[in-house]
Amino acid sequence: MSDTAMLVKTTSAPTQEIIRVERVKKHYGDVEILKGVDLTVSAGKFTAIMGKSGSGKSTLLGIIAGLEKPDEGNVFIMGQKLDGMSDRDMATLRRRSIGIVFQGFSLIPSLTALDNVLLPTFFATETSAERRHQRGIALLKQVGLGERLYYHPATLSGGEQQRVAIARALMNSPSILLADEPTGNLDQETGASVLELLLDLGRTHGTGLLMVTHDPDVAAKAGNVVEMKDGRIIDGHA
Ligand SMILES: Nc1ncnc2c1ncn2[C@@H]1O[C@H](COP(=O)(O)OP(=O)(O)OP(=O)(O)O)[C@@H](O)[C@H]1O
Ligand SMILES: [Mg+2]
Repeated sequence: MSDTAMLVKTTSAPTQEIIRVERVKKHYGDVEILKGVDLTVSAGKFTAIMGKSGSGKSTLLGIIAGLEKPDEGNVFIMGQKLDGMSDRDMATLRRRSIGIVFQGFSLIPSLTALDNVLLPTFFATETSAERRHQRGIALLKQVGLGERLYYHPATLSGGEQQRVAIARALMNSPSILLADEPTGNLDQETGASVLELLLDLGRTHGTGLLMVTHDPDVAAKAGNVVEMKDGRIIDGHA
């Protein structure tokens, strides 16, 4: 091993685990959708979840986001166990540390694109309103919506709405980004630039990215690809 390699090895911090899923089970009615899922995601890493339609990918993401409760098992977000956390603490954790881009997690119709993006910072009094405003505009420009800042969701296309949701999820520079096919509705070029934006967040801010995708080209960029099958995760560990 070279001196430099030694140096890097000995001085690098231990990898921080930001998501830990332990033996999570979930059923709807008589059907067991998740049959004991284990998964870990580390800071700055991109993990892609693949698997057939109906295999439970969105259900798993919803449980990690604390939007749904598992029947059994545990989820830890940055070492904090979700089970037993108050709704208020959960909401604070979600607002401060978790960016969510889900299919049904829609925009607020009465707000402009920019105000939708600024919404998660409503309580972030540590940053001035002007700085937040500038960041919101910069993010919307980065997702290609610099000309649509003051449009309301109803006057935006589906892909444009999705990009607003992505900008909103990035607004607080989250530690964790949970994304359910975020580039699914986008054309190839826009999808690729949005993906770059998400990956860049991992590189610059150490955000851990957990993304459901059906696109092998997207998964090819992930450090870890896991597959959901029959209610379990087969392959891989972050
Ligand atoms: N609230 C619910 N009530 C009853 N069944 C549900 C509920 N949510 C999900 N399911 C069922 O759980 C299964 C897994 O759904 P889920 O949305 O997690 O799949 P998925 O892997 O995300 O699929 P896709 O790739 O199509 O998005 C499906 O069969 C679905 O019908
Ligand atoms: Mg889904």
